[in-house]
Amino acid sequence: MELGGYVIAIDGPGGSGKTTIARSVAMELELPHLDTGAYYRAATVAVLRAGIDYEDHEAVAALIRVVELRYDRGRMLLDEEDVSEAIRSEQATLAVSAVSAVPEVRRLMVQAQRNWVAERGGSAVVEGRDIGSVVFPDAALKLFVTARPEVRARRRAGEVAGDQELIEQDLARRDTIDSTRAVSPLQHAPDAVEIDTSDLSVDEVIARVLTLVAATR
Ligand code: DC
Repeated sequence: MELGGYVIAIDGPGGSGKTTIARSVAMELELPHLDTGAYYRAATVAVLRAGIDYEDHEAVAALIRVVELRYDRGRMLLDEEDVSEAIRSEQATLAVSAVSAVPEVRRLMVQAQRNWVAERGGSAVVEGRDIGSVVFPDAALKLFVTARPEVRARRRAGEVAGDQELIEQDLARRDTIDSTRAVSPLQHAPDAVEIDTSDLSVDEVIARVLTLVAATR
């Protein structure tokens, strides 16, 4: 089936099930999958390694302009070094919302993400916080994936070792920063279809998404 120039934008908070859905839908449709959170996390690793205060927006912007970030088949490369594990560290997770609130960082990441999709022929499943609202406002299908806070914390606790209550607090803290920042906050695009995954199995969600895909082609 012809899928030229077909973007599926999947936005939602951490632990909502976005990544699982994006990966499965991409595999099912044989489309490339882009996890844009990996870019913001890699930028954060670069900032932490350079010892820059991430409140110093000028210094952060100057650094991110010169580092090379590349996402390739699910791996994140920072200046050719595979940082796929480092970007999931607690330190990176604690700092990522602050780094991703820097306007110049967002401008550079959005540009890199659009180029990534264009280089692959213009079709992809792209997940993040601002994909349907900013990065690909003309996406053929926009989804906004949510889940109840305790469900999100339970899922995250299964991915990373840690106390569920602390994880729930950290998710809430990041939600607040991600939703209230001045530049492209996490938001439900008016034309996005909302899916609450709290009480659905992965297969049920995928089936729902594929039905939506069929309706938009
Ligand atoms: O999806 P994730 O938890 O890996 O994302 C990490 C952080 O990156 C998240 O706290 C907010 C930020 N982010 C963003 O601001 N915009 C995106 N498109 C993706 C992620």
